[in-house]
Amino acid sequence: MKEIQLKTATQTAKICVGDDALALRLPGLIAGQQNFVLTDTNVYGLYKDTLKWYFGDAPIFVLEAGEENKTFSSLGAILQEMTKAGLHRTSRLFAVGGGVIGDIGGLASSLYMRGISCVQIPTSLLAQVDSSVGGKTAVDLNGVKNIVGAFYQPMEVLVSPAFLQTLPQREIKCGLGEIIKYCALDKGIFEKVANATCEWDNVDFLESLIVDCIAYKAGVVSRDEKETGERKCLNVGHTTGHAIELSTGLSHGESVLYGTYLETCLAIEKGVCEKEYGKKLLCILKKALAIAPVSKPDFSGIEIDLQKAKSDKKNVGDGKIQMAVAKALGEWTLLSLPFDEYVAGTTQFVASLA
Ligand code: NAD
Ligand code: GLY
Repeated sequence: MKEIQLKTATQTAKICVGDDALALRLPGLIAGQQNFVLTDTNVYGLYKDTLKWYFGDAPIFVLEAGEENKTFSSLGAILQEMTKAGLHRTSRLFAVGGGVIGDIGGLASSLYMRGISCVQIPTSLLAQVDSSVGGKTAVDLNGVKNIVGAFYQPMEVLVSPAFLQTLPQREIKCGLGEIIKYCALDKGIFEKVANATCEWDNVDFLESLIVDCIAYKAGVVSRDEKETGERKCLNVGHTTGHAIELSTGLSHGESVLYGTYLETCLAIEKGVCEKEYGKKLLCILKKALAIAPVSKPDFSGIEIDLQKAKSDKKNVGDGKIQMAVAKALGEWTLLSLPFDEYVAGTTQFVASLA
């Protein structure tokens, strides 16, 4: 098991990565207080016995799987069950699932009695490389992604790559969406992915990337927990990605792959991304997008879809769309464009995705 520390003003979180992370850490984290487990229908179906074995009779809330359930009303239902279970301020919530469960579970734990401790146990690749770490918690509201939320650090994150054995291929591809974001930020991760001699779904390869991505993210979050500056880099591909996700219903990870592709094209065209490096990044993105099953989102209404970028949290209210984009190997920058220029620029590159 490998350990990474994430120290912020509010918490020092331990992030444990390895197939033995649960066996080594979970019994100690469960002992000594009332616990509440949140998971989704798919994960519960696959890991019911494991959950019962570790958590015994602790209440388990099983949310219907899917982004469409990352809502305010689901949050209310979870909080109601936490109340009914008679949890105290010293109680602990365990969020066992993908990014949806991590985000809504983290938010529920931040709200219940103004904050109880939370342990994240990410089971999807996307959640293991990114969303379980860093304390961003949220639900979607009125068609806007993650618009209601809080920064609330988990006390511990237990990452067991063994969960990936049951993950559908499509979800591996989604995780690559966030991994390639880290390629756009970090030289070492870029080179590891670009020069990989194995398939990208090789478990040992993925496990080493999980550690690299978490270590990168932990560094960024420890320096800028509330995203006033450096943490904006973690949004590479996400402005356009969120617009695509909301309009097409495509998963978060695949939308980020498309978003990073289109934003990199735009950054090259605007002269903020080095051309030769940008082309290499685009090749990596195309290779990931070609992994089966290939979704063919309907981009015919892309001009309308991109309207969603206007409500992105990263905008600063000057009427411009702000994106974090790749600049050169291991470097990123912010690109701000007037809305019309952003749409015109992005639209012209959609054809190259066909
Ligand atoms: P998800 O939680 O919907 O999980 C994807 C699918 O995989 C679901 O159907 C789930 O049931 C299934 N699944 C999870 N683990 C499994 C396993 N081991 N075996 C079989 N099936 C399994 O989505 P996701 O891709 O994990 O996360 C996307 C969400 O994360 C989005 O809501 C996004 O906004 C959020 N996110 C948050 C952050 C953050 O910093 N908080 C960062 C990135 C993404
Ligand atoms: N996933 C973006 C962040 O954690 O800041």
